[in-house]
Amino acid sequence: MNILVIGSGGREHAFAYKIKQSPLCEKLFIMPGNAGTAELGMNVPLEPNDFTMVGKFCLDNEIGLVVVGPEEPLVKGIKNHFDADDKLKQIPFVGPDKTGAQLEGSKDFSKAFMAKYHIPTAAYQTFTAENIQEGLKYVQAHSLPVVLKADGLAAGKGVLICESHVEASAELEAMINNGKFGSSGSKVVVEEFLKGIELSVFVLTDGQSYKLLPEAKDYKRIGEGDTGLNTGGMGAISPVPFADASFMQKVEERIIKPTINGLKAEGISYNGFIFIGLMNVAEEPYVIEYNCRMGDPETEAVLPRITSDFAELMLATGDCRLNQVELQISAQHAATIMLVSKGYPGEYEKGKVISGSDTVVNSLVFHSGTKRNEQQQLLTNGGRIIAVTSLADNLATAIELSKQNAETILFEGKYYRSDIGYEFVKN
Ligand code: AMP
Ligand code: GLY
Repeated sequence: MNILVIGSGGREHAFAYKIKQSPLCEKLFIMPGNAGTAELGMNVPLEPNDFTMVGKFCLDNEIGLVVVGPEEPLVKGIKNHFDADDKLKQIPFVGPDKTGAQLEGSKDFSKAFMAKYHIPTAAYQTFTAENIQEGLKYVQAHSLPVVLKADGLAAGKGVLICESHVEASAELEAMINNGKFGSSGSKVVVEEFLKGIELSVFVLTDGQSYKLLPEAKDYKRIGEGDTGLNTGGMGAISPVPFADASFMQKVEERIIKPTINGLKAEGISYNGFIFIGLMNVAEEPYVIEYNCRMGDPETEAVLPRITSDFAELMLATGDCRLNQVELQISAQHAATIMLVSKGYPGEYEKGKVISGSDTVVNSLVFHSGTKRNEQQQLLTNGGRIIAVTSLADNLATAIELSKQNAETILFEGKYYRSDIGYEFVKN
């Protein structure tokens, strides 16, 4: 079967890597892909948000399975475009429609969903221009810190944790009245701050049954010891030591099952990933956010631990027969370290020559922001450049292998966090 993966990051390189291992995969296409995915299949230089072109490409190339990586086309309704066409709707598709994607696309939608289905999350209220005065009063009386969230997609920047009432009031006004975060911030969720340790839980569902994928911990801050600015993610580990059987049972009973049942009750047919960002507050799980996709760099740590046929899992998800396939997970530990450009997550330069990435042994190399020039040199092409993942029988060895290989890949201005997984490994 011919398979199309949509997206261009490390997550999509990891998808392509797993799908390529499957005997089900004939031709593999990645749209638009990066220099890493080009080694596994054919990169297609089309814009994923141009649904007409994506649909035409699928028909012209006899695509038998579509897997969508990033949230943007999902929130914009790529699945609805396929559903509306007699031929396109026959193609098994991994990714929810516009309504299902609202779990990520609208914080207000997801908070209301959680409230309705009694899923544990931070207490909240939503404000717009119509009730901003009430919002300012609410914020003034709120405990500190107080969390402000732009309702819509804001490229990971729409969450503000305010330490004072003055700051919170000013930010609420900036979002609602002055267009901070554009239209995404015209509606704002104000919520309670949850204190605990975060983890990422991943569920694959066909709308009826679900499978729990390996969980992961993402390291979001740029600096060692979890300091400095938030990034897309600087590394990940899987499994997460504190996500033991008793904690995960609470997650399944209180969060995953009510989420799947809630989607059914709302009449939302959901075929795809649900990434649940959780806070472990004194051993009790609370939902911080839902995403309608896999995480990046979590995917680069999670997928290498899946030993069953990933293309078959994707196909069964799209075909609504997930209960008929088996999910096998390796007991090994995965540690992923992200190599980034100097300056990231602020401004950074592109076009630096990368060397050493193709001679790595004992680790997997997933490209994120890379491309090749006309001379076929490998160049940096973004903030996050390459994710190095290692598998080992224990976390400390996995981290050590990834660190060793992070050293052998070279480009001007390379930076990485050498403390991924630090809180779980004794020195
Ligand atoms: P999000 O964009 O929803 O992933 O939020 C970004 C980050 O803000 C999360 O990963 C958390 O670290 C933090 N965050 C969001 N909501 C809360 C909350 N209610 N309490 C504490 N931290 C939060
Ligand atoms: N690593 C977090 C995310 O993908 O949103």
